[in-house]
Amino acid sequence: MAILKIARAGHPVLARQAKPVADPTDPAIAQLVADMVETMADAGGVGLAAPQVHASLRVIVFFVPPQRAADPEAAEGTSGGPVKLTCLINPQIDPLDPAIDEDWEACLSLPGLTGKVPRWRRIRYRALSLAGDEIDREAEGFHARVVQHEIDHLDGMLYFRRIRDLATFGFVEEVQRAKSHAQAQRAASEVSR
Ligand code: NI
Repeated sequence: MAILKIARAGHPVLARQAKPVADPTDPAIAQLVADMVETMADAGGVGLAAPQVHASLRVIVFFVPPQRAADPEAAEGTSGGPVKLTCLINPQIDPLDPAIDEDWEACLSLPGLTGKVPRWRRIRYRALSLAGDEIDREAEGFHARVVQHEIDHLDGMLYFRRIRDLATFGFVEEVQRAKSHAQAQRAASEVSR
């Protein structure tokens, strides 16, 4: 296993249409996925797409920790529940209804930055596993968001291009500082009332 170099925004590999994997059971794909998982863990991410480690192939890995799940109490792997580490090969995605949510995203290819991105609220995705088995799932909330974000990487799309209000785009540190400042002001005005 190895920690791979992560491509940053501006590198051409991130703008390319990634190629479908011909054989998901190819040991070279298993090796790539193992390295992607190690790289993602080292960087503290919850998702990573193969183009981000300079492999222009339709492969993503992600997980949904309980604290990010729409319903942390829901069973593992259900649409709103936590999702354990998952690898999707040649994934395809369909929205389940027209509802859109805007929420904060970040990306290991844009270190330190964040912005509010519109995404389908509920999706269905299909893919192959490393064993070559069919995966067919419904997802909502953060689960749906992370899958849409990672699949975008396979089509040469980075999240900041989807931001509607660029005033939300900035450094995580500053955005968090501004949020806690606003909260403190609100608390202060409640106390003084
Ligand atoms: Ni990303």
